[in-house]
Amino acid sequence: MRLFIAINFTTETRSQLLVLRDELRGKSERGRYSLPENLHLTLVFLGECDAKQISAAKFSLDAINLEPFNITVDCIGRFKRNGGDLWWAGIRENKALTDLQQELTSVLCSHGFKLEKRKYSPHITLARDVVTDIKPWTIEPFSEKVSTIELMKSEHITGKLTYTAMFSR
Ligand code: 2AM
Repeated sequence: MRLFIAINFTTETRSQLLVLRDELRGKSERGRYSLPENLHLTLVFLGECDAKQISAAKFSLDAINLEPFNITVDCIGRFKRNGGDLWWAGIRENKALTDLQQELTSVLCSHGFKLEKRKYSPHITLARDVVTDIKPWTIEPFSEKVSTIELMKSEHITGKLTYTAMFSR
């Protein structure tokens, strides 16, 4: 199973993200736009996991400190890609978020996970393969309270990218 650990959003935050996604869509020649139910913020990407690793991931989620904190979405940006960029909503610098991400990474590594070493860039993917002339922009910030993180499964079901929560903390 292809797994990742993520923050999922309230209906209100999803609606605000959808307005931004649709603004991007209106200004783009083409792109593959995230479905409302797929909007999330990944903390750690685990990749393909077997049953033992799934148990270790659940154990790791249970082992960390988790105090509620706020995150703020404050910009729209992109990762350049050949053939079309990945556009995202960006999170304002946030020590509680990076501390949580680092603690999770370190607990997972101590349970045998080999994780990517690249720097964490918190982003909420709004669209992939986007071709547009526009530039990244700043937005009226909005916030979400984070009190739950979830172990998520990613799969294609009849061609549709589907994320399912398997375990919540
Ligand atoms: P993305 O939206 O920028 O592609 C499920 O695929 C989640 O894990 C997505 O949020 C995805 O980010 C993230 N992810 C992080 N590293 C990844 C990797 N190496 N391969 C695929 N998805 C990755």
